[in-house]
Amino acid sequence: MASKFLLLALLAITSSIALASDPSSLQDFCVADAKNSVLVNGLVCKDPKLAEANDFFFSGLQLAGNTSNAVGSSVTPVNVAQIAGLNTLGISIARIDYAPWGINPPHTHPRASEILTVLEGSLKVGFVTSNPENRLITKVLEKGDVFVFPVGLVHFQQNVGYGNAVAIAALSSQNPGVITIANAVFGSKPDISADILAKAFQVEKNTIYNFQSKF
Ligand SMILES: *[C@@H]1O[C@H](CO)[C@@H](O)[C@H](O)[C@H]1NC(C)=O
Repeated sequence: MASKFLLLALLAITSSIALASDPSSLQDFCVADAKNSVLVNGLVCKDPKLAEANDFFFSGLQLAGNTSNAVGSSVTPVNVAQIAGLNTLGISIARIDYAPWGINPPHTHPRASEILTVLEGSLKVGFVTSNPENRLITKVLEKGDVFVFPVGLVHFQQNVGYGNAVAIAALSSQNPGVITIANAVFGSKPDISADILAKAFQVEKNTIYNFQSKF
């Protein structure tokens, strides 16, 4: 009886761990079928006999992204939208380019932890722990350094070197998702009302209108 209870408790714990990231595969692979309109959690598989090398392939990550924008950075994602064969595999990758002093603004990935490798330049990186501590954990990285951003936590990078910087981010989801804090809060469509944001951020409504006009 006691051992049965223990087994049940163990099952409950392990199944909740499995649910915390992309579900594990029940077959060798499940190349997303772009033509199928059925909506499931993930994407419908095409017939595995029709899978080919190009379903597991992407080309072009040697190319720098265009960093001529307000934040001075550019993300080139390579997830299930670019490689159909990533469907159900729980991983993806991205290239991030930074102009001098460019930033990848504070954002979170709702479905993935991230492990970032600096290929070129120097990056100041950081993430903030959840309430109530909200502790900033931050470090300056050089070429070859690797840093982890735990799933769901707000994080950022800034190029603190004199030249361009380049990083490769690996993520523990086929579709990590990105929530950029400023865009979500001040650039939602329609707007979150200025009343709510003024109280949330403890500022005048005009300050909120000013932020909203930028996103
Ligand atoms: C980079 O983006 C800027 C702003 O959108 C654009 O004016 C410029 O032509 C782009 N450069 C390249 C090389 O595509």
